Amino acid sequence: MPDAQKMFERITLPRDAGLPVSLCNVSKTYRTGFGLPVHALNLVSLRVPSGQALAITGPSGSGKSTLLHLVGAMDTPDEGSITVGELELARLQERERAAFRSQIGFVFQRFHLLPALTALDNVAAPLLPLKVGFDKQQRARELLAAVGLSGRERDLPSHLSGGEQQRVAIARALVNSPGLLFADEPTGDLDSRTGAKVMGALLELRSKRGLTLLIATHDAGLASRCDRVIELLDGQIVSDSEG
Ligand SMILES: Nc1ncnc2c1ncn2[C@@H]1O[C@H](COP(=O)(O)OP(=O)(O)O)[C@@H](O)[C@H]1O
Ligand SMILES: [Mg+2]
Repeated sequence: MPDAQKMFERITLPRDAGLPVSLCNVSKTYRTGFGLPVHALNLVSLRVPSGQALAITGPSGSGKSTLLHLVGAMDTPDEGSITVGELELARLQERERAAFRSQIGFVFQRFHLLPALTALDNVAAPLLPLKVGFDKQQRARELLAAVGLSGRERDLPSHLSGGEQQRVAIARALVNSPGLLFADEPTGDLDSRTGAKVMGALLELRSKRGLTLLIATHDAGLASRCDRVIELLDGQIVSDSEG
């Protein structure tokens, strides 16, 4: 069995009800071009239970993307600990981190679809390097159906509206059956009606597929549809609708 596959299996995460996430005193400081420190996150502690849809709000620069990147193991904190399911991220080796990242889903403001691939192939693309025990095309077809795009499998991204492209991106993010889905301003490039539909699709998938959702958004109306809303300011949580 190839190493990557072995690693993948070793850290396979449970996935029936969504993965809980916990941050304890997490800080991240960046240096600007002038060497000045920017405290992107400052001693943030947060517990997100399994299956919760959490909206992360706050002005531009408040630390929303940093928080998502750290929980997604795309970056490492300077201090504090982050646990996803049973895994403490700081304990993972680099290759285990890569395996972990392949088992969580990401949706971005820009859809990042491959323009030369059909909707179906875009959704199946993350599975290409993997050996899996199911039919990849069939999985992709089911996910397109789950986001309301049955019949659009063969369309290229350029033939889809912005909202449809974002739904393809959501289907792609779910192709590894993640227990945790991050969405960073997923409706930022969409008009408000389309944005509302995309948020609706995310919330419905959360219930149907057993996901924990972390959604960074500027849109207070969309945020209020989540189970819980936290607000960041200068890298700190300044309000928590559950707190
Ligand atoms: N890679 C980086 N290098 C330097 N500064 C960064 C980097 N990423 C983020 N920052 C800074 O950290 C702060 C928080 O950024 P970010 O998490 O992107 O906020 P948000 O997503 O809420 O707009 C900002 O001041 C930003 O300029
Ligand atoms: Mg951001």
